[in-house]
Amino acid sequence: MTKAADKQSRLGAGEVPSADSLVNKPIVFAFFCSSLTYLLIAMIAGLLFSFQFLQIYPFPGLEVFSPGRWRMVHTNGVAYGFIASAFLGALHWAVPRLTLRPVLSVKLSWFIWVAWNGVILSTVFGLLTGHAQAVEWGETPMWIDPVALLGLILVAINFLHPIIKVKGPMYVTLWYFIAAFVWTPLVYAMGNFVAQYWVGGTASAALIGLFIHDLVGLFVTPLGWGLMYYFVPVILKKPIWSHGLSLIGFWGLAFFYPLNGIHHFLYSPIPMFLQYGAVISTIAVEVVVTTVVINFFMTLRHRGDALRSNLPIRWFYLGMVFYFTTCLQCAFQVTLTFQKIIHFTDWVVGHSHLVMFGVFGFWILGMMTYLIPKLLNVKDWYRPNWNAWHFWLTGIGMIVMFFDLVSAGLIQGFMWKELVQWETTLVASSPFWLIRLFAGLSMFTGQCFFAANIIMTVKRRASLVASPSAAPAMA
Ligand code: HEM
Repeated sequence: MTKAADKQSRLGAGEVPSADSLVNKPIVFAFFCSSLTYLLIAMIAGLLFSFQFLQIYPFPGLEVFSPGRWRMVHTNGVAYGFIASAFLGALHWAVPRLTLRPVLSVKLSWFIWVAWNGVILSTVFGLLTGHAQAVEWGETPMWIDPVALLGLILVAINFLHPIIKVKGPMYVTLWYFIAAFVWTPLVYAMGNFVAQYWVGGTASAALIGLFIHDLVGLFVTPLGWGLMYYFVPVILKKPIWSHGLSLIGFWGLAFFYPLNGIHHFLYSPIPMFLQYGAVISTIAVEVVVTTVVINFFMTLRHRGDALRSNLPIRWFYLGMVFYFTTCLQCAFQVTLTFQKIIHFTDWVVGHSHLVMFGVFGFWILGMMTYLIPKLLNVKDWYRPNWNAWHFWLTGIGMIVMFFDLVSAGLIQGFMWKELVQWETTLVASSPFWLIRLFAGLSMFTGQCFFAANIIMTVKRRASLVASPSAAPAMA
């Protein structure tokens, strides 16, 4: 097992010359471009909403710019626009290289790219024109749900085709991918169809709780970790420290994660045995996470210099530190004692940002930093130091936003517990919301550096291609 898995991770490193030719680079780049565009739009939506928290209304009286609508553009934009599109791009790179086979059909990939962008743009249109559904993270207007589900099934078929042809033991990345391809359409159907059409009342709320959490745990997490198991050994040029530990991580996730969702509804009318089950399995996930994080940090042993010299590795490992932090937070905030204070406060919003952006967003930005020059066939970025600015502005913004919001959450929670007047708690929260705005601006500026660097790298490449003396500069 170990030998085979090692071999497969080495194949991913590009030792087999044909691996590169199996990847369709334009489709990877196209997914990355849409992903970054949605990230910028979603961040502008987040900034708009942050202004409104401070009672600054850039577009007063315009219904289409009302805070509730832009909040949904923000959350749907980051999840389905930024994260899902980036993962689709990275999968088009990793799956063919790990399986040594192309995806089922590149035409299907392009169809999925068009359809997925269609789904996201119509979701934004539907949300802004007031057609959202009352399902958290499933606000996508009703007519889009079946199309999105069909899209997810097509994605699964396109990638599972090369994966099922792999003979012999599979590297752990492929385990995670298979699981994600099976779980994601099921999770999507559970939240958008079962909870809505077949069950009602508290049962429906319980299912939506599962849906919200399983989107993170059974779609984003397995793809994120699967990609980390691929990219980290490839970039460090050494195999993962322990394949045994990687399997414990995988099966631990599969076993405990699906039970977690109800922890969003502690103290609700959902039966207590289900609430206690969610508490225990959430704490159990923390143990599993520790094994995964140990595995990656042991892999970094004797290569710690990469944290200084290799920007993608820095993005990945900072994301892992954040991952451990969020899961540790989870193990505490899931207890009934802690819930009494932090429920409905900004603590939760701080936690969400650290998970969605600090972890998965950082992994994605690291993958893009590593892959984009390869996709464009150039040796280096237009300005490598702009990428350093990207990292520091984003990293500092993220850390400030996290500490700012969890502090705000604690203050709000204790004030509410003491039954302090609501208006007084708003006044107490305002400085934290102002700091959140500046942290967001720092993160947004970081993304502008990155976007500008991509545009300039593409432009420089175009001029190099046009001039024959440019050849040595191309990779
Ligand atoms: C410019 C940077 C950003 C700003 C200013 C910002 C601001 C906001 C605001 C004001 C909210 C609503 C909070 C509330 O309802 O109390 C929010 C929610 C959220 N944002 Fe952001 N955000 C930013 C970037 C991001 C990024 C990059 C991601 C993920 C990749 C993200 C993920 C989320 C999530 C998941 C929520 C829902 C939180 C919850 O319901 O617990 N945000 N954000």
